[in-house]
Amino acid sequence: MSQIIEQGGYIPPPVRTSSSFSIDKDKLIKGIFRISTFLTAPSSVEDILGKILDEVVDSMGFDRGIILLLDESRENLVTRVVKNYSDEEAKRAYSVHLNLKKHDSFETRVAKTGTYIALEDSEKDPRTTETDRKISAFYKRGSTFYAPLKIEDDVIGIIAVWTKEKTRFLPNEIDIVLTFANQVSIIIHITHLFELNREKIEQLLILQEAVSDLNSTYSIERIHEILIRSALQIGKAEKALIYFLDIEKNRVFINDGERGFIDDKNEYGARIESTIIPRALDSDAITIQGPDEEEGNAVPLFEGHRSEVAIPLKVKDRFKGVLLLGMRNGVYSQGQINVLDILVNNAATSYDNAIMHSMLSFEAKSLKTEVEKLKEREDILLGFHNILGKSKKMVGIFHVIEEVAKHDTNILIQGESGTGKELVSRAIHRQSLRNQKRFVDVNCAAIPGTLLESELFGYEAGAFTDARKRKIGLLEYASGGTLFLDEIGDMSPPLQAKFLRMLEDGYIRRLGGNESISVDVRFIFATNRDLSRMVAEGSFREDLFYRISVVPIILPPLRERGDDLVLLARNYVEEFNRKFNKKVKGIAKEAEEILRRYSWPGNVRELKNIIERIMILRDVGRYITPENIPSEIKSSAVQDHVARVDELLPLTSSTERIDYKLAVEKLTGRIRERILTRALELSGGNKTKAAHLLSISRYALIRELKKVGKEGESGT
Ligand SMILES: Nc1ncnc2c1ncn2[C@@H]1O[C@H](COP(=O)(O)OP(=O)(O)OP(=O)(O)O)[C@@H](O)[C@H]1O
Ligand SMILES: [Mg+2]
Repeated sequence: MSQIIEQGGYIPPPVRTSSSFSIDKDKLIKGIFRISTFLTAPSSVEDILGKILDEVVDSMGFDRGIILLLDESRENLVTRVVKNYSDEEAKRAYSVHLNLKKHDSFETRVAKTGTYIALEDSEKDPRTTETDRKISAFYKRGSTFYAPLKIEDDVIGIIAVWTKEKTRFLPNEIDIVLTFANQVSIIIHITHLFELNREKIEQLLILQEAVSDLNSTYSIERIHEILIRSALQIGKAEKALIYFLDIEKNRVFINDGERGFIDDKNEYGARIESTIIPRALDSDAITIQGPDEEEGNAVPLFEGHRSEVAIPLKVKDRFKGVLLLGMRNGVYSQGQINVLDILVNNAATSYDNAIMHSMLSFEAKSLKTEVEKLKEREDILLGFHNILGKSKKMVGIFHVIEEVAKHDTNILIQGESGTGKELVSRAIHRQSLRNQKRFVDVNCAAIPGTLLESELFGYEAGAFTDARKRKIGLLEYASGGTLFLDEIGDMSPPLQAKFLRMLEDGYIRRLGGNESISVDVRFIFATNRDLSRMVAEGSFREDLFYRISVVPIILPPLRERGDDLVLLARNYVEEFNRKFNKKVKGIAKEAEEILRRYSWPGNVRELKNIIERIMILRDVGRYITPENIPSEIKSSAVQDHVARVDELLPLTSSTERIDYKLAVEKLTGRIRERILTRALELSGGNKTKAAHLLSISRYALIRELKKVGKEGESGT
């Protein structure tokens, strides 16, 4: 006998008619648990429904199952998933919709009443309708259980499971199926909610990506690009335009999604007037125009794209803009507009940053050029690394320095005393790649021969009587840097030989030592002696000369530097103004003339000393006048001018013959000697003072004394 069991109705004592139907509780609990995990990993509704149906059919021992959900109209039950259906059955199940009004079947009845139906004999049950019979015959249903899928009192669909054979349902089995049905309902509900929010989630994901892109750029074009791309996606629009007004410059930027440009040709200008853009700009509020609105005479900016939204984009007070979206059909949801608003606000911040950045970098650039200009001016004033000079000869020398500084070649600087040889050597070091390392200078004229050797090469303890401790030589000390050997012409011949060997081998041994120490030093040599003549005379090694003079630099005497003299003189006036707290404005023209006529044997050093003397001793007014200039400069300048050369001539008759070189040597030697003696007299034998009087260095004085055979002379 068959029975209909309805919820709330009479439930007869359970009698099993088929032993094939039993519940494995363990399996069931696992199934319920598995279903609940679907909640946390939502995928598509179909996918989840399929899995649930599998669980219900398998764990309860049914043969087949189907889930039907109500469609949007809530009138049709539509097959969503089937279990264990043949292809033909499945095809039919998916193609037939059960209409709640038209079809009277167990399915529609359960959906309408929200009450389950358990049929033990699907074909013979008295409630079976024509429709049921057809369905049942086709799918060969023995016993069927129909449960509603409900969210609270709202039916959303049904689940039907059945066995081929007839069976009886036990009340607890019914409870279990209903529990499953409840779970299914919840999961469907959640999945639906997720689906409904999917759009929103997608929008937020686009927004998130856009914001992170916006934050990583300072390029206005890139900001336009990101804004347009993301806005089109979020608004599901087809057309976008960014209208951007530079209030100060009264320019309009446009980016219509295809290109960005300044609208100076007024391509868009006129058209924009009649769109919603001015309204959005003026009201500073989001302005929407639906596809059917004709209100306010606003004309769509993009033809045929009648559904528009304009979102104001405000960057401080200087810039005002609008993002406009256009779409052919449909409307913008409030959700879309909210997300678009957030997007535009973010873009505005990025605009602000980008503008700030470009202004700052513009300022940085102009500051840099300003600094460069100052530097240039300073360079002109100061020549090069404090070497003043604008004359052709000096500028040529600056070029050479720049050229050679970077290479490690040996450099020989020649020039009269006071021409700036040391200054140049320091400039070369500073300009070189070694400028972070030491610059070591050694004056070969100031250190006696053997001492110079140990100074340069160093010694081991016990190398000679006084050598108590090992001493590192200057060649080692200068390692990595530059060694400036001044007055190289004064190096003794034995040391010249040893030095040459070092240059050739590239290593040294300390005195009394065996260890070979490699030398990594850049050499600059200087002398005011005529080395090539010394080579000719045999007092300087020719091979060494060629070694050291790879790049010769010859500094011109001051008298050959034209206007550099005045430049230097003015510079020293400034320097001593600062030093002595004076306010001398410059040098009077006539005084300048006198300085120009003088021959400056002591070159720049002499000039510096003279200016210093004038500034300390003379009562200088606003300008240095001829009266302020020491008489020896004036008279010598005059003498130079009208020099009575014949007075000095050793040749007295046309028959007399002399050795020219010797005569010149003697004559100049005599003059030198007289000057040196006089200077020493005046300074009471103090060599430092005498050197100062002559505007030469102390070493130069000693050297000069040597030349005239007065080196042994006492003095300090
Ligand atoms: N072109 C220049 N611009 C500015 N100052 C200079 C210039 N030339 C030389 N001087 C200054 O003149 C003085 C002498 O320069 P330096 O000692 O370099 O000359 P030098 O050729 O080595 O002389 P000496 O042969 O006597 O050793 C220094 O005070 C230096 O600063
Ligand atoms: Mg010098």
